Amino acid sequence: MTNILLEAKNIKRDFKDKDRVFHAVKDISFDLHEGEVISFIGPNGAGKTTLLKSISNYLVPTSGNIEVMGINLLKQPRKARRKMGVVFGGDRGFYNNATARENLRFFGRLLDVKEKELKQNVEEALETVELANVGDKKAGTFSKGMLQRLHIARGLVNNPKILMLDEPTAGLDVEAVYEIRALVKKLKQQGHGIILTSHDMADIENLTDRIFLIGGGEIHFSGDIGALKKFAKVDQDESLEKTYLQVADQLKRRD
Ligand SMILES: Nc1ncnc2c1ncn2[C@@H]1O[C@H](COP(=O)(O)OP(=O)(O)OP(=O)(O)O)[C@@H](O)[C@H]1O
Ligand SMILES: [Mg+2]
Repeated sequence: MTNILLEAKNIKRDFKDKDRVFHAVKDISFDLHEGEVISFIGPNGAGKTTLLKSISNYLVPTSGNIEVMGINLLKQPRKARRKMGVVFGGDRGFYNNATARENLRFFGRLLDVKEKELKQNVEEALETVELANVGDKKAGTFSKGMLQRLHIARGLVNNPKILMLDEPTAGLDVEAVYEIRALVKKLKQQGHGIILTSHDMADIENLTDRIFLIGGGEIHFSGDIGALKKFAKVDQDESLEKTYLQVADQLKRRD
């Protein structure tokens, strides 16, 4: 068995809304191994983004525990955070008037990357996402697909073992989606552990070792695609999209 990179135990995250407490993430445990891609799939509002934020120091979990390569994230958040690349993507997140290189240097410094390592890390990250040739262009001139790759480069700038990608292919054209998938495969082969969310079942089919079905803040199933098809009581040659539709109803939030 390969090394465990991340262990999340009994993660809960509530949001208080006036007099009501909303349980966005209820009691989720999982681990992530070296060279593994795991995916959280479930409907809008299931708690995927809240879970990723809760295990990467963007949000403090209401309760639970997270070990990142032997470091307790809640006790040593900055140290643990340095082991992770966290990518929420989207159209924002960069200084439009600064170049891709300048943006990456800035975010690298925020993540405590040492000055002597920064230049090399930025170049490696740009190479990995195939943006080195446009690294001196302003981020504001980038297409959506290029921006998404720049987001991933930002996630890689501290040279992390763990990468979290929240809907990395959302809103991209077919070619850009293929580029992102190829990139995820390359990173997996390099030994990164990757946590993915996506609504695109082709992403999941192409990239994932283990699937976690999430609904109403809870895990309803975990296992590989074959096991999911058994769980959904569909034939093994059924498409993942149809398989998902069989279980979609049980994932709806009931509170
Ligand atoms: N800051 C917040 N304050 C209050 N409620 C929140 C907050 N962030 C998320 N929620 C709620 O928590 C639930 C889970 O949201 P979350 O964004 O984690 O879902 P998701 O699975 O990522 O959905 P999507 O597929 O749409 O991205 C939703 O009902 C959402 O409204
Ligand atoms: Mg989300």
